Amino acid sequence: MTKVLVATEKPFAAAAVEGIKETVENAGFEFALLEKYEGQEALIEAAKTADAMIIRSDKATKEVLDAAKNLKIIIRAGAGYDNIDLVAATANNIVAMNTPGQNSNAVAELALGMMVFQARNHFNGKAGTELKGKKLGIHAYGNVGRYVANIAKGFGMQVFAFDPFVKKEDIEKDGVIALNSVEDLYSNCQFISLHIPANDKTKKSINFELLNSMPKGGTLVNTARKEVIHEEDLLKLMEDRNDFTYLSDIAPDCRADFENKHEGRFFFTPKKMGAQTAEANINAGIAGANQIINFIKNGDITFKVN
Ligand code: 3PG
Repeated sequence: MTKVLVATEKPFAAAAVEGIKETVENAGFEFALLEKYEGQEALIEAAKTADAMIIRSDKATKEVLDAAKNLKIIIRAGAGYDNIDLVAATANNIVAMNTPGQNSNAVAELALGMMVFQARNHFNGKAGTELKGKKLGIHAYGNVGRYVANIAKGFGMQVFAFDPFVKKEDIEKDGVIALNSVEDLYSNCQFISLHIPANDKTKKSINFELLNSMPKGGTLVNTARKEVIHEEDLLKLMEDRNDFTYLSDIAPDCRADFENKHEGRFFFTPKKMGAQTAEANINAGIAGANQIINFIKNGDITFKVN
């Protein structure tokens, strides 16, 4: 029987697990669950007998994929698939897919939530500022970027975007001003919300020059990946400009420097939690289960990324 393994170090909400189990079993497949595991060994061991897998930010390394001798498909229940070794997946004849859009609203709500939290001084009782009328630049206008734009317009923000892969007219029909370059975006907007993927081109690409061009009160909101930030540059900027703030879904590697020197000018979630809502877990998890079923039964490769 086709065995579908859900392997999540950071578990889905219980309702999502139930929904995935039901979907998988209704299709006549076997359901297996590995949650809150410690270390790659546990993942490698569980992967050995799986025909299909659903993961989150779990690391599907070459070791995992080489060991998974029966594996035909691996689903990243979410958007960013930088945690899957795509070369190893292809070499092992494993189809890799993501579930685009399914958890995007949750991530967008966290981006705006962190902005409000910071603008109101972490709710410490002192007078803060409002988002209304401020300029927000969306760096990459994909699924999450679109949701962020929509919510930000509700706050009365002026919303701008830059994305070389999206037509200007597609951005502007959402009532968002499309800018011509990343430099224009950063130099125009007090708030920047990052939505670029982490890959060889983007890692460490958010550098001193870009960040330093942001207007007074510059606030960088990162619900993408910590790897896209040039952390040495960010730290230098934090030293040079005491008006600058960094908000991130998970802490940078240089977290201790922020804690020691920049109190009140940063916020980091303790665990990556942009997509950590019941709704997002249900949407992404069940979409992943259906993608597995459609692939195994009908050869459907929509959302294949390798
Ligand atoms: C994504 O790429 O979809 C998000 O970063 C969510 O990651 P998570 O499933 O590990 O919370």
